[in-house]
Amino acid sequence: MQKKMEPVVLTNPLIKHKLAIIRDKKTGTKEFREIIGEIATFLCYEALQDARLEKQEIETPMGKTIVQKLNENNYAFVPILRAGTGMLDGVINVVPNAKIGHVGLYRNEETLKPVRYYYKMPKDIQNREVIVLDPMLATGGSASDTITMLKEDGVTKIKFLCIIAAPEGIEKIKVEHPDVQIYTASIDEKLNEIGYIVPGLGDAGDRIFGTK
Ligand code: PRP
Ligand code: URA
Repeated sequence: MQKKMEPVVLTNPLIKHKLAIIRDKKTGTKEFREIIGEIATFLCYEALQDARLEKQEIETPMGKTIVQKLNENNYAFVPILRAGTGMLDGVINVVPNAKIGHVGLYRNEETLKPVRYYYKMPKDIQNREVIVLDPMLATGGSASDTITMLKEDGVTKIKFLCIIAAPEGIEKIKVEHPDVQIYTASIDEKLNEIGYIVPGLGDAGDRIFGTK
């Protein structure tokens, strides 16, 4: 049996500072969106700690040298609509030539089960390492279903990036997808009775897009 992986949690104090701002209900859409992007960039750096680099000869203004470069064609980002798209700019800053797939899911507010409405992947998705993006890992239903769909498409290397994770969602991914590493800026206390993360930051999609 595969060993369950513990999530990687960002520990930089500036991340805690940024989280403090987006948790505050007084923070407006513009600042909220900018910080989601910024934290996504840091999560992406962390997720690519194990990236394999390829040697290449280049010429600096001082002469020839061997450098190490990332093959960006090995990667794809998959934001879960809608809130996951809020993290996209932040990760594209790091790997601008990665391809992008989209999964459309919303949670049925009564059952809390994800409902799929869109799925579009790059043709060669099975050859890429896929980094799934969603700011909130709550019950874990949306993340787990997305990972299942990607595996059905032949993807073998998947990572999941979120801003805030609930223990319940982490446990679900550990059990259903023990091969998937979670990267998060925070593990919060719990879910409330309507499936929201506490203390969390509220509804990420509504706060990114200003829809409430
Ligand atoms: C939110 C969030 C995740 C999901 C997390 O999406 O962005 O996709 O809930 O919950 P889960 O872990 O319990 O599945 P939501 O359904 O609010 O849709 P939205 O992104 O379109 O606002
Ligand atoms: N989705 C959100 O946007 N926020 C939560 O706290 C839980 C699910």
